Amino acid sequence: MPDHASPASLRQPTSCHSAERVADSRVIADREFARFQALIHRVAGIWLAPAKKALLMGRLARRLRELSLSSWTAYLERVQTDTAELVHMLDCITTNETQFFREPRHFELLQERIFPRWRADADQGRRARRARVWSAGCSTGEEPYSLAMALLGAFPPATGWKIEILATDLSTRALERARAGVYAAERAERIPAWLLEAWTEPAGEPDHVRVAPGARELVRFARLNLNDAAWPALGRFDLVFCRNVLIYFDPPGKERVVGQFLRHLEPDGHLFLGHAESLTGTAHPVRAVIPTVYVHAPRPGRAPASRR
Ligand SMILES: C[S@@+](CC[C@H](N)C(=O)[O-])C[C@H]1O[C@@H](n2cnc3c(N)ncnc32)[C@H](O)[C@@H]1O
Repeated sequence: MPDHASPASLRQPTSCHSAERVADSRVIADREFARFQALIHRVAGIWLAPAKKALLMGRLARRLRELSLSSWTAYLERVQTDTAELVHMLDCITTNETQFFREPRHFELLQERIFPRWRADADQGRRARRARVWSAGCSTGEEPYSLAMALLGAFPPATGWKIEILATDLSTRALERARAGVYAAERAERIPAWLLEAWTEPAGEPDHVRVAPGARELVRFARLNLNDAAWPALGRFDLVFCRNVLIYFDPPGKERVVGQFLRHLEPDGHLFLGHAESLTGTAHPVRAVIPTVYVHAPRPGRAPASRR
């Protein structure tokens, strides 16, 4: 997986993510793999390259056994008629690797340039003391909670800023863990010490911490499939983080989703993508601030109405 920033020790697999060896009789035939590829692409936008066949088998083999199904074709038929099983399969095939304060340059940009600008604009009456942020593909919650802590560090509750963070993902299992907000202390070590001290608390189990209520209450989690043709009404955001998600999409899918993000981004709002998800060479109305972070610069006459 294209995730150079995550040492193995920081990975948090969900239960079907412990890949297992598959008996020879259960090897997926090429035509069956092609059906999985097409189905997963159509539903989730995720393109499974042929090299991912072993990964798919490893992640779903146990499920076939649990359901007493004797073939991959039988499982394919099951997911096509059973929505709950389809959701389960998507949970299994998504890669949920993440970290607190991943890609530190992104957080430096927030602290050094974006937040001071918001503060100055608010002081001069050019914006409300309000910030809306979306973590799209939030996995097990480390990204939205990092954003919550960074925002609370810059705009402490006493300053009167109203902060809202929407955190969405396709994986119901990842969202369940995210909502719990409990992490191994080893993972939490990536949180800057002063924020760790201020915004986490003992979790009641050894070597774990829980994100403190003051940070948790800023974040609203919801399941949202970015590949859906229509998204629910979400309003506009100052920041959209969608990092290390679109790398699994094919180029037309990525183009479509980025176009949708821009319709949900304030003029001058920022879109943060993962380090391998550059928009270089696309026609989107954006300007790069640093590599893979873009400011929304709608063309004259096409500026969406701001909420302010
Ligand atoms: C590698 S994780 C990235 C997590 C986090 N953004 C980060 O950079 O640390 C990718 C996440 O994208 C989610 N995902 C994949 N396809 C998706 C889709 N079609 N809609 C919403 N989320 C999706 C996966 O479930 C997974 O949690």
